[in-house]
Amino acid sequence: MGADAFGAPLALAQRGGLGGGPHPHSPVFRVQVPYVGASARQVEHVLSLLRGRPGKTVDLGSGDGRIVLAAHRCGLRPAVGYELNPWLVGLARLRAWRAGCAGSVRYHREDLWKVSLRDCHNVSVFLAPSVLPLLEDKLQAELPAGARVVSGRFPLPTWQPVAVVGEGLDRVWAYDIHRGGPAGQAVPGPSSASVLGTPNSQNG
Ligand SMILES: C[S@@+](CC[C@H](N)C(=O)[O-])C[C@H]1O[C@@H](n2cnc3c(N)ncnc32)[C@H](O)[C@@H]1O
Repeated sequence: MGADAFGAPLALAQRGGLGGGPHPHSPVFRVQVPYVGASARQVEHVLSLLRGRPGKTVDLGSGDGRIVLAAHRCGLRPAVGYELNPWLVGLARLRAWRAGCAGSVRYHREDLWKVSLRDCHNVSVFLAPSVLPLLEDKLQAELPAGARVVSGRFPLPTWQPVAVVGEGLDRVWAYDIHRGGPAGQAVPGPSSASVLGTPNSQNG
């Protein structure tokens, strides 16, 4: 899916036509993000870049909760989702309940722009390219040193990834936060699926 199909036009955003109503004070009021679930491969790639990492894991714009549930199942705990659309929050909770994880994973109906990320060590995003410049600012301002951000389908616009996994629509980029901001070690090469660094070796 291209950027144009993913980013909601202003008129639709103002009508609250896609993906849950934006908060009027949110930057997303201008550039809203529709719901598109991550593919199974995309979820696998997200987990491959986060597996084994300690600390709180969050999915910003958690949709039906698939990434949060998968993260919890692979041992990333606590795993928390923040999602604006109440129907998707309800669906995520139902799926967690069906999976026997109702008391373990948490889904909050919250505007991701208002959530503090200061205690988050692993952050997953799958959002429209139009909001990613704003998101970079928020991540850089709030995340602690050692945190990792993984972005599905669309890379963060100015950060350098430490790892890239997958191809095409399933591709996921990883970024590590160091004191003073994100510091990637390399840029993606021509290969369609490459790992640029050992994910856990970049922490600290
Ligand atoms: C492309 S979907 C990704 C869903 C899920 N992360 C996944 O990978 O399957 C983006 C999600 O972000 C949600 N969203 C958009 N703006 C948001 C905001 N300001 N706060 C919280 N969630 C938001 C949308 O409702 C949608 O469910």
